[in-house]
Amino acid sequence: MKTKRFDCAPHPTPSNVFGPVWWIGRGIWGQLPSFTGEIGCNVFLLKGAKFDVLIDAGMSPTNGPLERAIRLAGSSPERIREIWITHSHSDHLNGAQTWTAKYPKTRVRISDIGLRYLRNKDYRLVGLADPKAIAKYRVPKNLSAFKEGDALSCPPWKFRAEYLPGHTLDMFCFRGRIDGCDVYFSGDCAIGDQGKTWGNIGWLNSLWLSNLRDYETSLMNLNKRIPDVLLPGHGVPHAGASAARSVKNCLKRVKKFRAFPQLGSMVPFT
Ligand SMILES: [Fe+2]
Repeated sequence: MKTKRFDCAPHPTPSNVFGPVWWIGRGIWGQLPSFTGEIGCNVFLLKGAKFDVLIDAGMSPTNGPLERAIRLAGSSPERIREIWITHSHSDHLNGAQTWTAKYPKTRVRISDIGLRYLRNKDYRLVGLADPKAIAKYRVPKNLSAFKEGDALSCPPWKFRAEYLPGHTLDMFCFRGRIDGCDVYFSGDCAIGDQGKTWGNIGWLNSLWLSNLRDYETSLMNLNKRIPDVLLPGHGVPHAGASAARSVKNCLKRVKKFRAFPQLGSMVPFT
């Protein structure tokens, strides 16, 4: 596997990471050049033969930046048949509200766990604690559930949903094979080495039911099967040795946290 075939640099405009994968959405996390100026996550575009898919929706309250980025990447909003949500956090899910209001044919795929919480009007996994924000919250339309092991398809590309809880209770990653490469959309489970900070993991908080023991198990499982390219929910992607190093460093970080038993009962904003 040649890492030269991957472009993991944070360009100021949408960029082709490799083959059918484009990096089209980025918030202000990590002080990388942002497309939206907001706290949105990375949004990736997966181009298929018949239709295209977004991985995560970002947080943008308007469709403009995402629509522009999709067009710059050579696709069009009408081609986006599905959005695959890694977890319910607002910076990954909220963009789907405005998107489905304008493009009602787009199906938003979210885990059965995330969907159950949303349907129960329990917005902890979204990250909402303020009663006023909870009262105002609008759940995106066209949600449909996947569960662990389910196939997600963007023909000719096939992906599988892997359950890796720890950062949140509903953290899922998507693994697929493209042109002989093992491709992994890791959401906030493994953000990895970013600049001078090694092994970035998702923010831990009891509000969204973070669990360090689960997190360690999830990363140990990921470490057994390191992908060729890791596309995280924030920060730069990783290819080859950088992907392996990033996953190992995430695991090291969680193991260090696990040495503090008091983190077993995390208060909000740990
Ligand atoms: Fe998150």
